[in-house]
Amino acid sequence: MVGGGPAGLMASHLLHRAGIDTVVLDRRSVHEIETTHRAGILERDSVRLLTETGVYSGEGTERVLTEGDRHGGIFLRFGGRSHHVDFERLVGASVWLYPQTEVFSDLHRARTRDGGDLRYEVSDVQVHDVEGSPRVTYTGADGGAHEVSAEIVVGADGSRSACRNLVADHRRFTREYPFAWFGILCEAPKSAPELIYARSERGFALISQRTESVQRMYFQCDPTEDPGSWSEDRIWDELQTRLAGEDGFSLQEGPVIDRSVLPFRSFVQTPMRHGRLVLAGDAAHTVPPTGAKGLNLALADVRVLAEVVERALEKKDLDVLDEYTDRALARVWKAQHFSYWMTTMLHRAPGASDFDELRQLGELNSLVSSEAGSTYLAEGYTGWPTR
Ligand code: PHB
Repeated sequence: MVGGGPAGLMASHLLHRAGIDTVVLDRRSVHEIETTHRAGILERDSVRLLTETGVYSGEGTERVLTEGDRHGGIFLRFGGRSHHVDFERLVGASVWLYPQTEVFSDLHRARTRDGGDLRYEVSDVQVHDVEGSPRVTYTGADGGAHEVSAEIVVGADGSRSACRNLVADHRRFTREYPFAWFGILCEAPKSAPELIYARSERGFALISQRTESVQRMYFQCDPTEDPGSWSEDRIWDELQTRLAGEDGFSLQEGPVIDRSVLPFRSFVQTPMRHGRLVLAGDAAHTVPPTGAKGLNLALADVRVLAEVVERALEKKDLDVLDEYTDRALARVWKAQHFSYWMTTMLHRAPGASDFDELRQLGELNSLVSSEAGSTYLAEGYTGWPTR
């Protein structure tokens, strides 16, 4: 596995369970990965993948269930009011608020417990001969030169993947958006029982959570925004204005303990396999964060990947890997559409006309007043079945 984030570690975990030896390489330190804030929502099947494949075996507790928070829906807020979309009632499913950093820690603990070969803080990772007998060379944390030969290389090296460049004759599809997200972590109590996705005349805002006393919030901003130039008062003014409404709602405020501007784009590369190299997660695709699909897609990739790799090695037939791209990309494109749709429905495009604004409100109103519309949102948000 080139990449020891959640995708690489989950691939290593599932393959280990199938009796296949793996080596995980990552240039980052465990601490760096554990402290990089990422998204926080797990689909129903992502939770199942953690609880049903022995990640917590022997621990006596399934941390995602005991430490995570089950959310039976979300609030869509527009026109000065909140509208609850009740996933439980609509599709009988819920999602879990459980930060990606926790998923990483759980998988890292599971692989360590099971004797996994994890090599962090390596450098100069290079993958050779994926069309023949793959080798991966790198400089170890000790400064020495190392080489690993492998039957299959999994490129799980994230949104700035080097592995994806090794896929011959690839096609790439990209969409840029004229905005980004300003994200903060703050010390404050929760402002609502579930997440609030808000559309306002000043643009989008998302009120998410981390713990009882730490909250995660975002608001749409210009991609060139400098987070350091905002005072805390200005951040709270902006968030409060975007959430304000006739119902008198207001956010619980507190000290801002982290802030950053998040990139925002849609990207897909196809195929996701070349020779003995397979790509997983952000290495092959990026979605805007508006539907919280990034980590969920990576885990869904890996579930399919582990199954086809296991079969290919068992049958000694690489052609089995052929089905991976189509099976993974079917879900990726659904998620691309879902994230794009949630984004365009809730964000303010620079230069939007009055027509655009009123059409957007029309769309949101038809969504929350229609059982079919709300069910469509609930299905996408809680996640489609994996094929
Ligand atoms: C988060 O909690 O970081 C989060 C939640 C939902 C999203 C995006 C990010 O759609």
